[in-house]
Amino acid sequence: MRKGVITFAAVGLVASLGLVACSQPQEPEGTDDKPKVGVILPDQASAVRWETADRRYLKEAFDAAGIEAEIVNAQGSTENFLTLADQLITSGVDILMIVNLDSGSGAAALQKARNAGVKTIDYDRLTLNGGADYYVSFDNVEVGRLQGRGLIKCLEDMGVQNPRIVYLNGSPTDNNATLFREGYDTVLQDKYKEGWVFVDERSVPDWDGTQAVTLFEQMYTAHGGGIDGVLAANDTLGNSAITVLRNNGLNGKVPVTGQDASTAGLQNILAGDQCMTVYKAIKKEAYAAAELAIALAKGETPANLTTVHDPEANRDVPSRLEKPVAIFKDNVKDVVDDGFVTVAELCTADFAALCEEAGIS
Ligand code: GAL
Repeated sequence: MRKGVITFAAVGLVASLGLVACSQPQEPEGTDDKPKVGVILPDQASAVRWETADRRYLKEAFDAAGIEAEIVNAQGSTENFLTLADQLITSGVDILMIVNLDSGSGAAALQKARNAGVKTIDYDRLTLNGGADYYVSFDNVEVGRLQGRGLIKCLEDMGVQNPRIVYLNGSPTDNNATLFREGYDTVLQDKYKEGWVFVDERSVPDWDGTQAVTLFEQMYTAHGGGIDGVLAANDTLGNSAITVLRNNGLNGKVPVTGQDASTAGLQNILAGDQCMTVYKAIKKEAYAAAELAIALAKGETPANLTTVHDPEANRDVPSRLEKPVAIFKDNVKDVVDDGFVTVAELCTADFAALCEEAGIS
């Protein structure tokens, strides 16, 4: 319930005076003193992480802290997103945490929260001009740099001379996609000066895997198949590129990047069809966000924050950023060891032998 600091102070006082006795009147269920956090996840299609990892770890973190949390998913609809924001605010959340679908609807949801005196956190994606109180994510430019350096390593290992590169960028409405591109393009620009060739790029609306197949095919056809390396911004898009490459007998011959260390992405790496992914330990991100929400609910001012610039609002948003890690075939095992994916999920029949080769059992 939205009782904020006063509730905490009262609980502290009652506890310290030893007044928590059986004779105290009990509050009816659902109106206890627990702070409440509402979380809106974006969809299930753009990446599996939102339902398989973020929901799980956020719930775990809030449960461990004794915080009531309602975690909902907008299923790709901005209309849903705003309805869910209204519902959560009406239900009395103290904190609203969102992963926006785009900055416009994200900002509208954050405004609703502000109007109701609810504190706000942008989770994973910064809402441009959204005015969130805080932002919790990974260093997303670094994610892009790892992808760029990963593609360079894969092409150099294969000994490809002056490779021709295409980008399959993330959603144009996702600020992360902008930051990822900034990271990989900066790294690859150095190579373009040395003779590598930037061929073309497409941005994929809503990170949609089906549209990505079409968009990659367009590039493939337009350039007569003259593509030596694919910078795909996440595993969903990487898989789309691999599908087209496979249809042309080129899977495994043209390196493809990814992100999210999804089970499918890791399997593509074990199979040699994808050259790398970026592992973001979502447990750390979720726990950092939960910790921040808990501090806010207690009326504390969170410490040890960095800032991320919102270029539209020209504002530095207090932020917590976790560190991403590059994953190639030889360290897929690290993702398993970290508990992000299980051996049973990864090493299904088709991948059992490859898992063994990679030392995963
Ligand atoms: C990004 C996120 C990635 C990926 C993508 C698709 O914002 O940082 O991890 O999941 O969205 O949803």
